[in-house]
Amino acid sequence: MTKPKVYVTRMIAQEALDMIAQVAEMKVWSGELPPPHESLLEEARDVDGLLTLLTDKIDASVMQAAPKLKVISNLAVGYDNIDVTEATKRGIVVGNTSGVLTETTADFAFALLMAAARRVSEADAFTKKGQWKTWGPMLLLGQDIHHATLGIIGLGRIGAELAKRAKGFNMKVLYYDEIRRSEEEEKQLGVEYISELSTLLSQSDFISLHVSLTPKTHHLLGAAQFALMKPTAILINNSRGPIVDQKALYEALKSRQIFAAAIDVTEVEPIPLEDPLLTLDNIIITPHIASASVATRTKMATLAVANLIAGLRGQIPPHCVNPEASKG
Ligand code: DGY
Repeated sequence: MTKPKVYVTRMIAQEALDMIAQVAEMKVWSGELPPPHESLLEEARDVDGLLTLLTDKIDASVMQAAPKLKVISNLAVGYDNIDVTEATKRGIVVGNTSGVLTETTADFAFALLMAAARRVSEADAFTKKGQWKTWGPMLLLGQDIHHATLGIIGLGRIGAELAKRAKGFNMKVLYYDEIRRSEEEEKQLGVEYISELSTLLSQSDFISLHVSLTPKTHHLLGAAQFALMKPTAILINNSRGPIVDQKALYEALKSRQIFAAAIDVTEVEPIPLEDPLLTLDNIIITPHIASASVATRTKMATLAVANLIAGLRGQIPPHCVNPEASKG
């Protein structure tokens, strides 16, 4: 029997590649940067499965070019890079890596929160530049984390894990979400539901974003929302860049309308070197690494492969975002 064909758009853990090699004929894009769209179209022509990253735009043109395609497995929990509606129409199942990166990503959100509050990056740069002359009573003053109020936008799995971490620091945790958790879950997590985003923004010392990128969440935070925040507020974003209007964020940080921000994602990735955000000292910008621990990236790769293999076999992947596609 001929093996199904698979295209993997970047080098991933060898363990995961070995799993694919057992069941499929595989080609891997070896470049450091994502394959150009034209190469993707060319490579997709003959494949049954694609293993993609969040940097690959998998739109109708790719699916059109791949008449045999049965499964797209994205090595990420977010899948805004894939036109899922189009995939469903074509009976192509789409998998993601939800579940395995929750705690690692929440750890990183808390790391960003602490680093921004206590100006860790700025202090490190200060020391390395030889600016540390003496102990100073007013030197690099930050904001307290303990007993502060954290506003979580989107209390899904990652948001909930962040709430647990915040509780360890005696923080008050508010959340805003389209879907309210049950009273029991709220009690367990120690969180308070706020039905208006504006109220959460004006009451929180820290605001952390944990929603997916959709047309509804695009620029969820812009100039009007920054105007509601406290001058001591700190924004954390490790979800998706376009959820924040980056120009408005720049203005809010530059004018000290808010105290600081720490973001792992930007509207354009990588952030262009000429972006004015890079000139500010009250923002920390990391290169989309919230899930980047050795263990978690290995789990993500093996789960992405399990999703891929299930799809190749005509089964619903263990983590499938459009199970309805398989009914067609
Ligand atoms: C995701 O999985 O969507 C993250 O952004 C990368 O881990």
